[in-house]
Amino acid sequence: KGCKLVGCGSAVPNNQFSNDDLAKIVDTSDEWISSRTGIRNRRIVTGKENLTGLAVEAAQKALEMAEVKADEVDLILFCSSTPDDLFGGAPEVQKILGCKRNPPAFDIRAACSGFLLGLVSASCHIRGGGFKNVLVIGADCVTRYVDWTDKKTCVLFGDAAGAILVQACDSEEDGLFGFDLHTDGSGSRYLNAGIKHSETSFALGSNGSDLGFSPSDTSISHIQMNGQEVFRFVVKAVPESITTSLTNAGLRLSDIDWLLLHQANQRIIDHVATKLEFPMDRVISNLANYGNTSAASIPLALDEAVRSGKVKEGQTIMTAGFGAGLTWGSAIVRW
Ligand code: ACO
Repeated sequence: KGCKLVGCGSAVPNNQFSNDDLAKIVDTSDEWISSRTGIRNRRIVTGKENLTGLAVEAAQKALEMAEVKADEVDLILFCSSTPDDLFGGAPEVQKILGCKRNPPAFDIRAACSGFLLGLVSASCHIRGGGFKNVLVIGADCVTRYVDWTDKKTCVLFGDAAGAILVQACDSEEDGLFGFDLHTDGSGSRYLNAGIKHSETSFALGSNGSDLGFSPSDTSISHIQMNGQEVFRFVVKAVPESITTSLTNAGLRLSDIDWLLLHQANQRIIDHVATKLEFPMDRVISNLANYGNTSAASIPLALDEAVRSGKVKEGQTIMTAGFGAGLTWGSAIVRW
C-alpha cells in the first residue's frame, strides 16, 4: 500500500517582530542576528491568538487543497511541544475542525523533529493500520517559553502552524520513499525546557484519618540551549541521516529536486547543503521571515513553496528534522 501527500496549509500570527524590534528589548542588533542565523523577522502570538487557532487554520487549508472534508479524516497527529493543554492539543483541534466520526487524535511531542516523526507515523498508520486520510499538523508557540532577557535564545524563535494531509493510495503512486529516525537522550542537556515540580508530601495522620497533603508547585523553565553543541550535532547527524534515507529508498542525491531542512538557522542549512554538495538554488528556506518555528517549520516552508509554484507536482523532496531530545531524522517525499 502507498501513501501520498495531497494537501498542505499553514498559518502564522498577525504580529510581526523584527530584529530591530528585538534590539529594543535585549542587547542585540539586526546585523548580529541576521549574519549568525539568517533570521530577520518572526511572528509572535498575541491577544486572543493561540496555538489551537493556528493549527486549525493550517489544517483547514490543507483539507481544502486536498478536497477532503473534516468528516473524512481518519486520524489526526498533532505534532507540538507547546500545546494549549498539558493532556494534549489534538482533541480540541479535532473538535473545532468538526470531525464528527470521532477519529483518533493525539499529540506527538518531539520538539523540532515532531513533524518529521508525524509524517513517518502517518505513513505507518496508512500502510499497516488501514487508515485512509491522516492529517499531520506541526504547530508550536515556542515564544511562550523563551526568556526575553536571554539574547542567546530569544532571537531565534517564532510561532506558526503547518499541516499536511497524507492519503492512502496504490503502491505505484507512493509518495514517501525512505526515512531514517533517531533519538539520543544523552544530548538532552544541550537543549531543553524542563518541567519543575516542588516536592509533594502526601501522608495519613497517626490515627489514619487526617490527611496531610501539600500539592506540588509546577512551572516550566525557559528554554536552555548550548548553541555550539547543537550546531556541531546537527551538521554531523543530518547529512548522515540523509545518506541513510537515500540508501533505504535506493535513490541518489541527484534524484532529489529540493532539500527542505527544519528551519533553525541559515548557517546550519548552508553547512548541510555544502557538505552534501547539494545545489543551493534547490534548497528551500523561509527562515528569514519566521525564525525557528519548531515543529511547524517544515510544513510551513513546504506550504509556501507549493503555493508559490516553486515546488511542482511530482517533484521529490528530501526533508530533515532535528532538535531537542536530541532527535533527528530525514524522509524523502514526493509532492
Ligand atoms: N546578539 C548579540 N550578541 C550575541 C547574541 C545576540 N543575539 N547572542 C550571543 N551573543 C554574543 C555572546 O554574548 C558572545 O559574546 P562574547 O564572546 O562577548 O561572550 C558571542 O555573541 C558569541 O556567543 P555564542 O553563544 O558563542 O554565539 P554563536 O556564535 O555560537 O552563535 C548561535 C549562537 C547562532 C545560536 C549558534 O550557536 C548556532 O547557530 N547554534 C545552532 C543552534 C540553533 O540553531 N538552535 C536553534 C534551536 S534548536 C533547533 O531547532 C535544532
